[in-house]
Amino acid sequence: MEAFPLNHLPAERSYKGLSVTESAALFRRYIFIEQQCVRICAAWLLEAPMYEDKHILGYHLWDHAEHVQWMRERLLELRGGHAEADIAPTLKFALDEVLHARDVTELVAGLYGGVKQPLLQAYRDHVSMADTAANAGEIRILQRMIPDLENHLRWGEDIIKRCPTGHDGAVPWQRYIGDLLLRAGGIHGTLHVPPLRALERPHAHMHRRSAELKFDSRIARKPLAKYEERESMPHEQSVKAQFAVFFNELWAVGLLASVIVDSWDAGCPWEFQYDMAHHCWDELRHSQFGAIRLKELGEEPSRVDTFFFDQSQNWPFLHRLVYLTRDLEVFFMKRKSPRVLKYQQEGDGRSMIFADADWSDEINHVRYGTKWSEYFLKDDARTVEDIKEEIRVFIARQQAQAGVSKTDIPF
Ligand SMILES: [Fe+2]
Ligand SMILES: [Fe+2]
Repeated sequence: MEAFPLNHLPAERSYKGLSVTESAALFRRYIFIEQQCVRICAAWLLEAPMYEDKHILGYHLWDHAEHVQWMRERLLELRGGHAEADIAPTLKFALDEVLHARDVTELVAGLYGGVKQPLLQAYRDHVSMADTAANAGEIRILQRMIPDLENHLRWGEDIIKRCPTGHDGAVPWQRYIGDLLLRAGGIHGTLHVPPLRALERPHAHMHRRSAELKFDSRIARKPLAKYEERESMPHEQSVKAQFAVFFNELWAVGLLASVIVDSWDAGCPWEFQYDMAHHCWDELRHSQFGAIRLKELGEEPSRVDTFFFDQSQNWPFLHRLVYLTRDLEVFFMKRKSPRVLKYQQEGDGRSMIFADADWSDEINHVRYGTKWSEYFLKDDARTVEDIKEEIRVFIARQQAQAGVSKTDIPF
């Protein structure tokens, strides 16, 4: 097999179409790049201060996860081997560097301008190189991914326009990421690779996974109305208080984003990252339900209580996952069906459809939690109940250190 996928682009040869070996080699590279996009979006879900950006990044995270899933299924059919084992260190380094942007503008310049723009072009080129019958399986997937990337890039352009100082400050970073990608032979790995030389990095900033869920000044960290309180309010007030709690599900988004980032190098199967990406996107949508409904009722989202996120940030990712899916989501589940019924009885269809979608998603989340906690504990003498007990010990120790004895659910 060739060291790089295409020694000769089909445009330069006498026939159209890609061999199975060529298609598989290209898909391995796309899979790697899109998989890294999942990780970068997760890290930046924590960092991006505007909640609207968090919401969009969560959608992009899920788009990338779905792309990876579709391509992995096709790679299997192409007998394409292991996606990550075949990746050149120069390509890995380029994607690793993208993470180290200093702010959202630079992230967009590096990831969207430096990587997704050439990725989109590579997908379009792939479609034009491919034969409509021999390569139909790949073309179908590429044509599903192209509109997603076009959509991502439109958002990226809006972010650049929004930046008061313009794009100029982020140009060196975009150029640096672009050069790294060129040094890796471009997306397809077919470009002439110049002699390896050290590229000048525009700055020395190194990203560390944030233990804080960041927000801008519009969002105050304040307690939310408790469940019993919300239930006893008049309908509209109760709905506003409940949808403020939905908006606050960004704490669960952050917790899952932290699980995705921290588990990245732990040798977990892709299926785990895929389920976590789905779960993260669902919680993101639940937060979006809150923003949508609050605005419909004349209010802007204005507060969060990130207690559950903050409390769990120094725990192993297994404990964070068990805490969310086997403790908290199980505890909150009993509130779900009465909420749907209540909105139905009040004739509040809008609130009902959001509460109904939330209930349905939560059933899947508990299923993910059961599946993956059993997976991680397979060769472990501990049971899930033992992990829960360890969590109780962590919490008790943290409360003792903070000098508090609070154990109740804050909202
Ligand atoms: Fe949720
Ligand atoms: Fe959930």
